[in-house]
Amino acid sequence: MSDLHVLSVVPEIYPIVKTGGLADVAGALPLALQAEGVRTTSLIPAYPAVRAALAQPAAEYVQPDLFGGPVRLLRGTVSGLDILAIDAPHLYDRPGNPYVGPDGRDWGDNALRFAALARVGADVATGAVPGLHPDILHAHDWQAGLAPAYLAYRGGPRPGTVITVHNLAFQGQFPADLLSTLGLPPESYNLGGVEYYGSIGYLKAGIALADRITTVSPTYAAEIATAAGGMGMDGLLRIRSHALFGILNGIDETVWNPETDPHLAAPFSLARLHRRATNKRALQIRLGLVPDANALLLGVVSRFTWQKGLDLLLAALPHLLGLDIQLAMLGAGDRALEEGFLAAAAAHPGRVGVVRGYDEPLAHQIQAGADALLVPSRFEPCGLTQLCALRYGALPVVARVGGLADTVIDANEAALAAGTGTGVQFAPPTQEMLEAAILRLAALWVDQPTWRKLQRTAMKSDVSWRRPAARYAALYRALRDERRT
Ligand code: ADP
Ligand code: GLC
Repeated sequence: MSDLHVLSVVPEIYPIVKTGGLADVAGALPLALQAEGVRTTSLIPAYPAVRAALAQPAAEYVQPDLFGGPVRLLRGTVSGLDILAIDAPHLYDRPGNPYVGPDGRDWGDNALRFAALARVGADVATGAVPGLHPDILHAHDWQAGLAPAYLAYRGGPRPGTVITVHNLAFQGQFPADLLSTLGLPPESYNLGGVEYYGSIGYLKAGIALADRITTVSPTYAAEIATAAGGMGMDGLLRIRSHALFGILNGIDETVWNPETDPHLAAPFSLARLHRRATNKRALQIRLGLVPDANALLLGVVSRFTWQKGLDLLLAALPHLLGLDIQLAMLGAGDRALEEGFLAAAAAHPGRVGVVRGYDEPLAHQIQAGADALLVPSRFEPCGLTQLCALRYGALPVVARVGGLADTVIDANEAALAAGTGTGVQFAPPTQEMLEAAILRLAALWVDQPTWRKLQRTAMKSDVSWRRPAARYAALYRALRDERRT
């Protein structure tokens, strides 16, 4: 039984639309919250994929004109998620990536597309859908950032508001002259409101006006309140530090379960760890690598961007190939990085394999077949791939930043003696330190009994949503109770 109802306002949700970890979180947290007595309704734009996923939705709430066209809300259930989809064809009926058009650029009307998400969110939060009275509106990232602002300036009764920052690098900044089009009052355009360096800042508005701010790891919560990590927002975050909380992400252990994973050549578990070798061999064959059990196989599953530090890996590669290592990479993003890694694969056939694109089964196969997973991020709010790697027994090699610092235990001497190590950390995120980390990893690989011990400890790490869900539930309840009194 649930005693608390959350309206989660999100621009993407697994398994319907996903461009990154935000979708994973939006799709898994509501299910984990059920065990905490929290019911969630997820509000999302009805992109074509969302409309297709809702088989026979009920239509609720109609608005004849929002930013140039009519809006309806469609309601249905997808994979156990209670979905409210904003059907506004003039804004969302476009195929492909939710943010970017076929020319690779952001849609020119993204300011309106995501203001609509926030505004309908504010409407639903204040009773626009009969029978739906959320206790909390939970906005995710800049795309939903205006929702707390709409509620704050509307006045009248409203639920508590929470904004989660998944990545401070994406802030949603738009021209100031949109203010009245967006339906925001003139007094909202100031330091304590939506104004941000002479523009309207969607994420800034959320951070300024939500009752609580969360981000996805304790270390990132501390980093973003500093000038070095704050990306222009650190002053405001320091002012609001009493309302800022870092709550680690988990992963959905039914989606990421090596015992039942339908994508694997040989499902495995702690008790049947030897079967991992079959997955390694299958991965080597799939990526055109030499099927050598003794080579140390490094995996990468990532967006190819500056954030993820893959240019450091590309620069380190010539030095690393002197070792008996192989590289299995999956990802897409910056052209220069894609081309650089594809060229490396062409120059080192059998040693470097690269698949460009988005491929969910292959992401699982890399986690199950690689001996280690590289995550050399320059900054990382939480990171999910290292959590999947822990669960699948691929030792994470990570930069000591953000959530990577919080989730991987470096196999230093003390940790090896205590049996607590689960991977390798390095700092700062430079090419030299990445190389040194991989050398350290290679030394561990040579000592196979130690390696197995690390692998088993990694696989026993708690990467589930249980503890994080309990923290979100406690935060929601405290906020609801505070607003009642
Ligand atoms: P971010 O959200 O910053 O990209 P995360 O580590 O939080 O990073 O989440 C990335 C998610 O996207 C993970 O679920 C990962 O498995 C998945 N992913 C990333 N790149 C690919 C890809 N090329 N193909 C399939 N899944 C991918
Ligand atoms: C963002 C971050 C990533 C985080 C994800 C989910 O995409 O880059 O670190 O894991 O959101 O919170």
